[in-house]
Amino acid sequence: MSATAKAIQDYSLLDDSECDRRIISAKKKLGDRCIILAHHYQRNEVFKHADFSGDSLKLSHHAADSKAEYIVFCGVHFMAEVADILSRPEQITVLPDLAAGCSMADMADLKKVEQCWKELNSVLDADEEVTPVTYINSAADLKAFCGRHDGIVCTSSNAKQVLDWCFEKREKVLFFPDEHLGRNTGYRMDIPLDKMMVWDFNQPLGGLTKEQIKVAKIILWKGFCSVHQMFQAEQIDAFKERYPETIVIAHPEANFDVCEKADYVGSTEMILKTVRDAKPNTRWLVATELNLVNRLKEEVKGQAKAVHFMSPTVSMCSTMFRTDPQHLAWILENLAEGNVVNQIQVQDKIQAKKALDNMLLLN
Ligand code: 13P
Ligand code: SF4
Repeated sequence: MSATAKAIQDYSLLDDSECDRRIISAKKKLGDRCIILAHHYQRNEVFKHADFSGDSLKLSHHAADSKAEYIVFCGVHFMAEVADILSRPEQITVLPDLAAGCSMADMADLKKVEQCWKELNSVLDADEEVTPVTYINSAADLKAFCGRHDGIVCTSSNAKQVLDWCFEKREKVLFFPDEHLGRNTGYRMDIPLDKMMVWDFNQPLGGLTKEQIKVAKIILWKGFCSVHQMFQAEQIDAFKERYPETIVIAHPEANFDVCEKADYVGSTEMILKTVRDAKPNTRWLVATELNLVNRLKEEVKGQAKAVHFMSPTVSMCSTMFRTDPQHLAWILENLAEGNVVNQIQVQDKIQAKKALDNMLLLN
C-alpha cells in the first residue's frame, strides 16, 4: 500500500448510500480504465455496481477479454486469481476483501494432492493413466499441478465437455476438490456409481483398496460446498406434496440425490437463464445460494413465476457476502487516486494458465 492510500477503517462506518455515492463517483473518474466483475452470489448492494456479471466460466472469459487497466473482482479469491492469470501482465486484479475465500477450495491443497498422486502411482502409472481435473474453485497452485500433469480446469458449466476431453486422452480422471460435481457429471455420462470412488485425503491410499483404484473411472476428492450441502432430497419431496407442479433446478455442487430429483441441473448462469426463459405461471424450487435466488424471485415475479429457495434454513455463501459496499468504495476511491490496494498476484502463472487454456479452448 502506498503511503497515501486510504485505510479501510475510514470506510467501515459509512452507510450504504454514502458508499453508493462514492462508488459511482470513483467509477466515473476511472472510466474504462476499470471494470467491475461480479459473481451471481454477490449481495444486491454490490451486484448493482457491476459492469459484467456471470458464473465462473463467463467471468473468466470477461477477465481474459478485458482491456481495462484494473479488474475489480467482486467474488471470491480463486476467481480473482483466475482473472490475474488470464489477463495481460500490465493489468491489475483487485479483490475488495482479501478474506473472501471459498471453503470448498480450501479442502484440497497442493501437499495433499501431490501425496494422492504419489499414492496413485504406487498402484498405477498415474501419468499414463490418469488426467487430473481441478474444479475452478481451487487455488492457483492446484491449477498449476494440473498444467504440469497434462490436465485441465473445469467449471460447473463445462464439466461434461472437460470429462469428454479427458477420456479421449486417458482412461481415468482424478477430480478435485468437489466430490458432488464430479459424481453428478460422471453419472450423466453413464459412468456407474461403483466406478466413481471417493478419495478420503485423510486416509492412506484415500481409504480405498488397490482393486478399487484399478477399476475406478473417476477418483473423487472428498470435498464439498458448505452452502450446497444444505439442500436435501427430502426438501423436494415435502415441497412437492404442497405444490406438485413445481419444477426443480439445482446447482451440480448439490448432492447426488438432489440432482437426481431435479428437472434441471446447471451452473448459476444456466439456472438464471432457464427460469427467465420459462413459461409464465410456473413454480420453481431452486437449490443454489440465497442472494441469487432472492434476486431471481424479484426479477420474475412480474411474469407470474414463483421462485422458492430449497432449504428451510438460510444458506448464504458467507465469504461471497464479505464483499460489501464499504470495501468496494475503499478499493475504487484508492484506484481513482492511483493507489492499488488488495491486488491479487499469482506468482507462477505458466502451468496454471496451461490448464485454464485447455478448458477455454473447449468453450
Ligand atoms: P458457477 O460457476 O456456477 O457460478 O458456480 C460457482 C460457485 O462457486 C458455486 O458455488
Ligand atoms: Fe465456495 Fe460454496 Fe461459496 Fe461457491 S457457494 S464460493 S463453492 S463456499
